[in-house]
Amino acid sequence: MLLDDKVVIITGAGSGVGRATAELFAREGAHVVAADIRDDWAKDTQRRIESSGGACAAIHCDVTSEPDLEAAIRHAVDAHGRLDVMVNNAGIASPGIGMQLEDHDDADWERLMNVNLRGVFYGCKHSIKQFKHQGHGVIVNTGSAAGMVGWGGVPYGVSKAGVIQMTRGLAIEVASLGIRVNCICPGAIDTNFATPPDRAFQPKPPEARELLGALHPLGRPIEAEDCARAALYLASDLSSNVTGIALPVDGGYLAR
Ligand SMILES: NC(=O)c1ccc[n+]([C@@H]2O[C@H](COP(=O)([O-])OP(=O)(O)OC[C@H]3O[C@@H](n4cnc5c(N)ncnc54)[C@H](O)[C@@H]3O)[C@@H](O)[C@H]2O)c1
Repeated sequence: MLLDDKVVIITGAGSGVGRATAELFAREGAHVVAADIRDDWAKDTQRRIESSGGACAAIHCDVTSEPDLEAAIRHAVDAHGRLDVMVNNAGIASPGIGMQLEDHDDADWERLMNVNLRGVFYGCKHSIKQFKHQGHGVIVNTGSAAGMVGWGGVPYGVSKAGVIQMTRGLAIEVASLGIRVNCICPGAIDTNFATPPDRAFQPKPPEARELLGALHPLGRPIEAEDCARAALYLASDLSSNVTGIALPVDGGYLAR
C-alpha cells in the first residue's frame, strides 16, 4: 500500500479526476477527505469508497473561499492529528467550447482565475502552514497540458500556467523543509468538465471518444484513472526525490 495511513485532502473529489484519485488513494490505504462544492457528489464519492472498504469523509468546500479550505484542513487535522498530502484538483473549464479570447467577459475571467488559480493558492497556503508545523507534507496540484502550450480557451490556459508556476515557485520555497510540491498536467479527459452544470454527465459516445483520442499521439482519450495513477506517484514515496515538476499525463501530446 503506497499511502498506508496517510491523511489526504482532495479538492474536486466529487467527480472525474478528483473522484478517481480519491478512490485509488483509498485503495492504497489513505484516509481521504473528499472536498467539493457539490455536497451530493462528494457524498457519493464517500459512499463508493466506504462500500469497497476504504476510509473517506465528504466535506463541503468551495475552493474560492479561504475559510472553506482552512476548515477542510482543520477537519483532517482534528480527525487524524495531521495532514500528509494536499491534492489541489478542483477546476472549471472555459464556459464554452471553442470560445475565443474576445468572447470572454470579466465574469468568465474572474470565475476561471478564482476557482483554478486562487483555489490552488488557498490550498497551498494553508496546507503549507500545517506542513511546516508538523515537519512534513506533499502537495499535488492539477495543472493542464493547456497551461504549457497554446490549446485554445486562453483564460483557462492562463489559469493553468499559473498553477504550474505556483507549483515550481513554491517547490523551491519549501524544498529545504523536505516538503514536496508537484503537479500533473493532463491532456483531454472524458469527465464532467465540459458538461454544462444543468446537465447530467454522460460519457462521450464512441465516435466522440475517438476524436478526443486522436488529439493524443497514443491515440486514446486520457482517463481520470491515468491522472489518478500519476497523482499517486507524486503523492507517495515513489517520488521522494522529485519536486517542482509538471508531469504531463497526455498520451504524448506535449512531445509533438
Ligand atoms: N477534463 C479535462 O479534459 C482536463 C484536462 C486537463 C486538466 N483538467 C483539470 O483536472 C481537474 C479536474 O477536472 P475534471 O476533468 O475531473 O472535471 P470534473 O468537472 O469532472 O470535476 C471537477 C470537480 O471540481 C468540483 N468543483 C468545481 N468548482 C469547485 C469549487 N469552487 N470548489 C470545490 N470544488 C469545485 C466540481 O464539483 C467537480 O466535482 C481540473 O483542475 C481541470 O482543470 C481537466
